[in-house]
Amino acid sequence: MEDHYNMEVLNAKVNLNISTGKLAGEEILNSKKFIKDLKNVFLNEEVRGSLTGDELVYEVQAYLPVEEGKQGGLFFGNSTVYPGKVDNEYYMTRGHFHENFDTAEYYWCVQGEGMLILMDEDRNIRAEKMQQGSLHYIPGKVAHRVANTGTGKLVFNACWPSDAGHNYKEIDNNGFSARLLEINGKPALITESGI
Ligand code: PA5
Ligand code: NI
Repeated sequence: MEDHYNMEVLNAKVNLNISTGKLAGEEILNSKKFIKDLKNVFLNEEVRGSLTGDELVYEVQAYLPVEEGKQGGLFFGNSTVYPGKVDNEYYMTRGHFHENFDTAEYYWCVQGEGMLILMDEDRNIRAEKMQQGSLHYIPGKVAHRVANTGTGKLVFNACWPSDAGHNYKEIDNNGFSARLLEINGKPALITESGI
């Protein structure tokens, strides 16, 4: 049946599949991170370097409806972290602080099992379990990284301010103060001091 309106009504520019977390639309940007792109991200760089490099670790779809850096806007993302490990460390995102330091973000898990690893500016670490429906408020000044601890893919959506920006430098230089490793078949958060 045809719809009748007394004004122009448009279709949304983007479709979010709420079962799979997938974004569809002309303006969606896609990026992929392969093992070869993740030099020095994992603890065992020797094992990472010995892989073919073409193993897909994670991919991100992003919808950036306003200019990056603009105050007051919002961005939306869909990230998929694939199951896998480098030695005994779960596949994970690089992780970052926000460039505009005190800007927050929401993550929520669509499918899979994982861990959100959070580190504040004093390098204090905490982690939150990710499973379908878990909603994670990431406060400003807190670095965030996601590891897939399951056997299937881990999918999460995100929403963040358009003036947040991504600061990878701090993590590239100093890493997180804890890593999520598989020990005796279970995820364990191991701090840099080994305690
Ligand atoms: O904006 C975010 O925090 C996410 O969309 C991440 O950018 C995404 O999950 C990929 O992680 P990273 O940017 O740390 O490589
Ligand atoms: Ni972020």
